[in-house]
Amino acid sequence: MGAVNGLKDVVAAESSISRIAIEDGKAVLEYRGYNIHDLARHSTYEEVAYLLLFGELPSKSDLEYFSEDLKERRELPPQIVGLLTNLSPFCHPMVALRTAVSFLGTMDKHISFTGHEKSIEKAKNLIAKFPTIVAYFHRIRMGEKLVHPSEDLGHAANFLYMLHGEEPTKTMEKALDLDFILHADHELNASTFAARVAASTLADMYACVVAATGTLIGPLHGGAAQRVMEMLREVALPKRAERYVLEKLAKGERIMGFGHRVYRNVIDPRTVELKRLARMLSKEKGTRWFEISEAIEKAVYRHKGLLPNVDFYSASVYANLGIPDDLFINIFAIGRVSGWTAHIIEQYENNVLIRPRAEYIGPAGKKFLPLSERE
Ligand code: CMC
Repeated sequence: MGAVNGLKDVVAAESSISRIAIEDGKAVLEYRGYNIHDLARHSTYEEVAYLLLFGELPSKSDLEYFSEDLKERRELPPQIVGLLTNLSPFCHPMVALRTAVSFLGTMDKHISFTGHEKSIEKAKNLIAKFPTIVAYFHRIRMGEKLVHPSEDLGHAANFLYMLHGEEPTKTMEKALDLDFILHADHELNASTFAARVAASTLADMYACVVAATGTLIGPLHGGAAQRVMEMLREVALPKRAERYVLEKLAKGERIMGFGHRVYRNVIDPRTVELKRLARMLSKEKGTRWFEISEAIEKAVYRHKGLLPNVDFYSASVYANLGIPDDLFINIFAIGRVSGWTAHIIEQYENNVLIRPRAEYIGPAGKKFLPLSERE
């Protein structure tokens, strides 16, 4: 039995949520059978969240009901606002989100799976409350008054409204909505896998989502976009990209936002959409983030043959939307929570405990010496 470190290319579950395939030399990504490019152009995040949770696109009335339901769930219980207020203002917003999800679990007396209907309720609760938790914590740490959720705005527009205290333009709303769609699911990425491992023990949904949020934080996963932004700020001018990349590679360091476990020599279809969005927003806002990013992309390809991943152009999209760098992982989480909860429900429905084996490589059969005889 040989270990597959990092479970590279191991198919660890059956799923009918996302399909990633390489067809005719191109990467294809589908949610529940629908191509990501079609969803990006023609749907909204609410439609996609419904699709992921229930397996089918909603009818007009289903969507209206679902969107209203989410709106009604947006406000946070006072205990959560109290928790966010008591956190250190230096607490990373993603740690605040992870803690708030765990705290939400304290309001439910069950600690394990309690049936499909309850799981759907919890999923809707989490999808609706994630943006509020993030916006409230940000305003609390900045010493600003809370902006309560709007009853009129859609998911993405409402988040920007609660964060900035003013309604976003249609372009900003559409841009963030598209970003949420693109981040909503991605098969067995590390955080989703973590959620499914927890779900396979029949732990309750809050526990599973805590596992997912904790896993997303790392720089090899959702933490990459924040690091990309640090790089864009450091490079600052497109003409400095080449030198920056060469120096990093010479030191054997990784360049954030490049490489992918699944898309090895093909471009991630989400990157294509995000690049288009980053170009459009940088032009509209008159910033250089896109230009700098493109110069880095070319240099990394020239010198290492690596392609940008979903986190790379997300950074310039978020910067152009006026989102602070340390909220980037939270934005990813707001989009991804619909995918996490859909996977948790899928795992519960067809459950087999996830418990792989390890190939032992340490010493064996050693003689035990009592403490008094040890040197
Ligand atoms: N910069 C420089 N070299 C890299 C990079 C990078 N970003 N990514 C991979 N490589 C090299 C790596 O050194 C190795 O080279 P060699 O064969 O010469 O030793 C080769 O490419 C294969 O890399 P790997 O580590 O075996 O690939 P992996 O599938 O284990 O890792 C990854 C995938 C995403 C962790 C990795 O590409 C990476 O660390 N990227 C930077 C962090 C990042 O952008 N993460 C976001 C991932 S995508 C969205 C998400 O999941 O959140």
